[in-house]
Amino acid sequence: MIGRDLLGIEDLERLEIERILETAERMKEVGRREVKKVPTLRGRTIVNLFFEPSTRTRTSFEIAGKRLSADVVNFSSRGSSLKKAESILDTAKTLDAMDPDAVVVRHEVAGVPKQIADALEAPVINAGDGAHEHPSQALLDMLTVREQKGHIEGLTVTIVGDIAHSRVARSNIYGFTKLGAEVRVAGPPTMLPAGIESLGVKAYTNLRESIEGADVVMALRIQMERLEGACFPSVREYAATFGLDRAKLRFAKEDAIVMHPGPVNRGVELAAELADHRPSVILDQVRNGVALRMALLYLVAGRGGR
Ligand code: CP
Repeated sequence: MIGRDLLGIEDLERLEIERILETAERMKEVGRREVKKVPTLRGRTIVNLFFEPSTRTRTSFEIAGKRLSADVVNFSSRGSSLKKAESILDTAKTLDAMDPDAVVVRHEVAGVPKQIADALEAPVINAGDGAHEHPSQALLDMLTVREQKGHIEGLTVTIVGDIAHSRVARSNIYGFTKLGAEVRVAGPPTMLPAGIESLGVKAYTNLRESIEGADVVMALRIQMERLEGACFPSVREYAATFGLDRAKLRFAKEDAIVMHPGPVNRGVELAAELADHRPSVILDQVRNGVALRMALLYLVAGRGGR
């Protein structure tokens, strides 16, 4: 993967996904040391180019780079020449001229990381683009499931929520199906895109049926700022029908785990009490995000480099 872009899980072979997960498992050990640092990427430079807000992804890419001893630069559009009407592409090319070894890009519009990747020498890692893909999130989700369940092949994974607008859902669908899981998606009909079953998943508008016998139940964030009125009548009704709580979870397997990529709307897609306690593994996902992103930076920007 050295020097290659990582734009989506759709582009990865099963073996490549497994290689990334195995590398991340080795990286976890660094996070348990008293001094959480190794010299692996000393002398390399990573640029975080985030055009959309982020807490988990941006911070964990930064911590991941620093744990590998890379120099990490966090570009913020506020205070940059974007405010003087410089284009995104010119901004990216300007930063590329400073010879980074990898550029991590998040943008609200699908396809922007690909456009930037096509224009740059440095390899680009997609940190989430519109409703397209969020590959590092899906990889840390797969890492977490593998850690909790010991394997992924043969598991039933149900993803609940706004499947139509979710880059997390799309990347996880590609990833979990490639690793041999049965993937189900559930939500109101307005949140299930036409033709979704062509991706190899089963679609449900009944939550109970979708989680019957599931090993993993993943709730997605409802983008309340954009969706109320457009996709469901009210937040209260959505929470009553598709919000996950212990009562609804009893239809899943007894040892089912609950996941959420964050940030969580407590009491909407997930009951607060469930978000904070087992079988929720939300903070395990966050913790694994650092190791997983260390693995990505090592594989993309390590050794030979550009
Ligand atoms: N899961 C996720 O992408 O969270 P952030 O938006 O906080 O990075």
